[in-house]
Amino acid sequence: MEDGAAFNGLSCSWPTTLHTMASRGIILLTGGAGFIGSHIAVEVAAAGWTPVLLDNFCTSERSVVDRLGELMGMPVRCIEADIRHEGAMRAAFGSTAVHAVIHLAGLKAVGESVEKPELYHDNNVRGTEVLLAAMDEVGVRRMVFSSSCTVYGTPQRLPIDESHPLSAINPYGQTKLDIEHMLDRWVDAGPDRHVCSLRYFNPVGAHASALIGESPLGIPNNLMPFVVMVARGELPELGVFGGDWPTHDGTGVRDYIHVVDLARGHVAALDQLDSMHHERINLGTGMGASVLDVVHAFERMNGAKVPYAIRPRRAGDAAAAYADPSLAERRLGWRAQLGLDDMVRDAWSFAQRQG
Ligand SMILES: NC(=O)c1ccc[n+]([C@@H]2O[C@H](COP(=O)([O-])OP(=O)(O)OC[C@H]3O[C@@H](n4cnc5c(N)ncnc54)[C@H](O)[C@@H]3O)[C@@H](O)[C@H]2O)c1
Repeated sequence: MEDGAAFNGLSCSWPTTLHTMASRGIILLTGGAGFIGSHIAVEVAAAGWTPVLLDNFCTSERSVVDRLGELMGMPVRCIEADIRHEGAMRAAFGSTAVHAVIHLAGLKAVGESVEKPELYHDNNVRGTEVLLAAMDEVGVRRMVFSSSCTVYGTPQRLPIDESHPLSAINPYGQTKLDIEHMLDRWVDAGPDRHVCSLRYFNPVGAHASALIGESPLGIPNNLMPFVVMVARGELPELGVFGGDWPTHDGTGVRDYIHVVDLARGHVAALDQLDSMHHERINLGTGMGASVLDVVHAFERMNGAKVPYAIRPRRAGDAAAAYADPSLAERRLGWRAQLGLDDMVRDAWSFAQRQG
């Protein structure tokens, strides 16, 4: 059976019993087994919603679903499906009343996107088209979308607010821009449609329980998992690209945001969604931290050594990028609460628990 083929392995039935519990409604998280989605599931549940994950596990592990269940003290439902699979998506939405979708499913490795732009377009952009069509069939009209600060391209001014010019400097970034434009068309194509595109800066850290966190496959693309691997002795040293940027210590500055803060931003967006048409909102702290700030905080908080070597700058990198998060505060009543020390401590606790 076409649809059944996509539903295997996990507890993939819909949570009909949860319908009858005191829940504000079902939030479907595409890509919900991933790093960010799993943390959002926890916060969504804490806010009284029922999270249901939908994931094909192409970059995440099935064990996350059980760990989420342990964390929440109740089974977490997961539909194993690919967002590009029309039959599976129709079946998923046909089975129950979803209040809103948080759409995280996507590939995100910039380097891989340069090598395989068609794959990135197919997975991220066409996948979103299929998802929206399935939502249309059953009248689901609310979405929070995982966008990225990559839509701003090379920073032209700091801090970066939502009116900063947009440009795609790699195929991954192009998919985020394409999807934001697709969502503009979608909200205009029918009544009562509501979208919030959240433009994440640099999510790091892990849940304080150390049950969920970031587990990239292979050599990581992002700084924090790389630092963790070096601290564990799995990589000999951290290559720092550029020690002569015009920043306070010469290394590149980014806006790292604790993944739990980021997750809470999604709950705040859900609460405001019905007052939106399609709004774009930055989720960042507004505070830049350099590569060496991260290394030093990591060593101080965790008592671990992170050997590093300064290497030449990489083409296309920027000296600094950090958010103006004031729209999130005005529009969502949200601001980041956790600092760099929390981020490095929780990232390390999660890594330690993995053994
Ligand atoms: N982590 C970051 O630094 C960052 C920054 C900005 C934006 N984002 C965006 O946030 C979202 C989540 O990122 P993450 O860091 O949690 O990544 P992740 O790789 O941990 O999670 C993505 C999840 O989506 C799933 N997925 C991918 N393609 C799918 C498909 N076709 N059908 C069903 N499931 C699919 C994967 O299996 C995975 O569980 C992505 O859209 C990413 O582009 C991430």
